[in-house]
Amino acid sequence: MKVVVLGAGAIGSVSATLLSKSPAVERLVVADRSLEAAKGLAETLDRGRVEAMRVDAGKVDSMAEAFKGIDVVLNLVLPRFNLKIMDACLKAGAHYMDAATDLALAKEKPGEAVKAPPEALQLAYDDAFKQAGLIGLLGMGQDPGITNVMARMGADRLDEVQEIEVRDGDNGSIEGYPFASLWSADTLIEEVLMPALAFREGQLVRLGSLQGEEVFDFPSPVGPLTVYNVDHEETNTLPLTIGKGLQAMDFKIAIPKDLAHALLVFQQFGLHRGHPIEVEVKSTGEKVKVAPRDMLAALMPDPKTLSGKAKGAACVVVTARGLKGGAKSGWMFWQTLDHQECYRKYGFNATSYPVGAPMAMATEMIGRGEIERRGVFPPELLDPAPFLKHFPGYGIVIQEKQLA
Ligand SMILES: NC(=O)c1ccc[n+]([C@@H]2O[C@H](COP(=O)([O-])OP(=O)(O)OC[C@H]3O[C@@H](n4cnc5c(N)ncnc54)[C@H](OP(=O)(O)O)[C@@H]3O)[C@@H](O)[C@H]2O)c1
Repeated sequence: MKVVVLGAGAIGSVSATLLSKSPAVERLVVADRSLEAAKGLAETLDRGRVEAMRVDAGKVDSMAEAFKGIDVVLNLVLPRFNLKIMDACLKAGAHYMDAATDLALAKEKPGEAVKAPPEALQLAYDDAFKQAGLIGLLGMGQDPGITNVMARMGADRLDEVQEIEVRDGDNGSIEGYPFASLWSADTLIEEVLMPALAFREGQLVRLGSLQGEEVFDFPSPVGPLTVYNVDHEETNTLPLTIGKGLQAMDFKIAIPKDLAHALLVFQQFGLHRGHPIEVEVKSTGEKVKVAPRDMLAALMPDPKTLSGKAKGAACVVVTARGLKGGAKSGWMFWQTLDHQECYRKYGFNATSYPVGAPMAMATEMIGRGEIERRGVFPPELLDPAPFLKHFPGYGIVIQEKQLA
């Protein structure tokens, strides 16, 4: 199998490292807009089968050229390039997989109903991918990804599904930094401040930013953390795919209270915006164009440099509640990893590893013909059994308990 990992960043490094060791992969191309970044990663891998390439995810034709003869493209750049990469995959005849959707495309204001969330733009490629006999697997990381598989497991065990909750918590810290993101700071700021999408009484609605503050008790060793509603891919697809009468679904992420409040202040100043503004550098009189969010992200440490420094543990939890045999029933599933232990075992922390690992795992599954479905779809539309069979081999352990 010939594979392109597009994006030599925090997550791309994990997927490329795992795939470079896979006997199923005969050729691995590490691609990035920076050839230096691609080379820097490729040089750490098995050089016989790995090559580095400069590829700009904003340019469909040159991407399609680079993807010729490739079986699977893993999109691990920023989600604003998803549609262009999907176009390039269609042109080149390559399967497509990503780990995030472009949530910034949402236009509704808080309180407004949502007809079609942003991921619908990608799902609209379903027919084209089917006709081409290609797979477009969306959101195959941790959350989305592992969480979608867990939601499907919960739904499969209930006759009627009333509510699904997805919770993401990390009690990790990095010495020397009051706050540091272990993944794309750009995506974090954008995602956290976007009016959150929630499914209430059978309707998709937009909430405000960082609403629904509560303390969620994550399974040990993470423990209780303050969580807030944020916009997330699971809410784009689960309300449409789970069925069984689902009425409510939302996603909450743990954010330290002081950071949540600071982000809301940044939002009031417009510091979360991704479009460039002209700024005069007072000390030189020079005029530069800079997007405020790029400046905030540049002030934060590069996630690639933090890999082994995080201490603590990360956890994703999915609960599904409803009815079974006419009685109330529910299931809770979770997946936890300790940052230091994960780093010792795999060379990556517990934030990037469980995102890049399912991407690599699903690539190998495609290579072995274990994903027969064609078209564009999220992971919950596939049978969870093959995922559950392979997760432990990648150190992904799904735990579960029945809820009273
Ligand atoms: N599903 C999940 O659980 C989950 C969790 C975390 C992240 N994610 C997603 O995973 C993806 C990768 O995240 P990450 O943390 O690895 O980000 P990252 O560290 O910023 O890496 C992205 C890489 O893509 C490169 N890039 C940016 N624009 C490009 C372009 N036009 N053409 C080619 N390369 C380009 C970046 O280069 P520069 O550094 O030069 O910009 C960087 O090397 C994101 O979509 C993120 O939302 C998913």
